[in-house]
Amino acid sequence: MKTVTRVAELRQQISDWKKAGQRIALVPTMGNLHQGHLSLVKQAKDVADKVVVSIFINPLQFDDTSDLSAYPRTEGADAEKLAQVACDLIFMPSLTEVYPQDMAAQTKIMVSGADDILCGARRPGHFAGVATVVNKLFNMIQPDIAIFGEKDYQQLWVINKMVADLSLPIRIIGGEIVRESSGLAMSSRNQYLTESQRMQAAGLYQTLLTVKQQLQAGEKDFVLIENQAKLSLTEKGFDPDYIEIRRAFDLALPVEGDMSLRLLAAAKMGNARLIDNIAVQL
Ligand code: PAJ
Repeated sequence: MKTVTRVAELRQQISDWKKAGQRIALVPTMGNLHQGHLSLVKQAKDVADKVVVSIFINPLQFDDTSDLSAYPRTEGADAEKLAQVACDLIFMPSLTEVYPQDMAAQTKIMVSGADDILCGARRPGHFAGVATVVNKLFNMIQPDIAIFGEKDYQQLWVINKMVADLSLPIRIIGGEIVRESSGLAMSSRNQYLTESQRMQAAGLYQTLLTVKQQLQAGEKDFVLIENQAKLSLTEKGFDPDYIEIRRAFDLALPVEGDMSLRLLAAAKMGNARLIDNIAVQL
């Protein structure tokens, strides 16, 4: 496994692999890797010959500067974990390698509709920051395939839309959410929780499961169900941002006859803002 920090060296390696006819998969990350990230790397190895994992904490997507400065940086441990899951190359660029110019003057990709709903509506500029850095990574690495976790379901939707809208020649694959035994979705932000908050935080997943049962039992008043679920999150010690029932494929509000739904939630517990989602098939 190689670690590369410069785009020029990266392009040379990618070009050698492509000349040898090898298919390349990219798993973009911000580091502080856990089993959720590593499951995506394993999935990448199943569909490609070479796997590139990028580690870059992207300032452009942080709407809160204290969140950016607190974000855990654990490059040494990350490299050790990646060596054990057949990663071929770690791309770990510096800030100036990715943004050589003033970031305020950076051209941005605004994915249509991304800022209107769910996390987009609560984190101004977040998805433009994600789409921009992912597009840059795609141009630097030119992967055949890129893998993103369903944990960030709206992000996966944003990337799929960007790829479709800009005709990018990349296949996007979604990876299932990896959870702790309590049901809490693994996340780098879970480490901001105290031990007791970590147990309590599993209540987010439990609430999603309750809503799923209500929907599958035929309850139809979505607004009432969402309001009850929000209240239940508050009772479980969360400060909820949203819990919403959406159509799975485009995240629009469901209409009569939609059978594939997605429940999505974001809620604060202590110093952590947690997100989670589950599929509901009616
Ligand atoms: P990061 O939060 O590091 O996540 C990297 C990838 O791992 C994302 O695709 C995310 O959905 C996935 N992931 C995180 N937790 C997961 C879990 N419990 N189960 C399965 N997959 C999980 O998402 C980002 O970084 C950034 O926005 C990025 C795409 C790298 C752009 O900067």
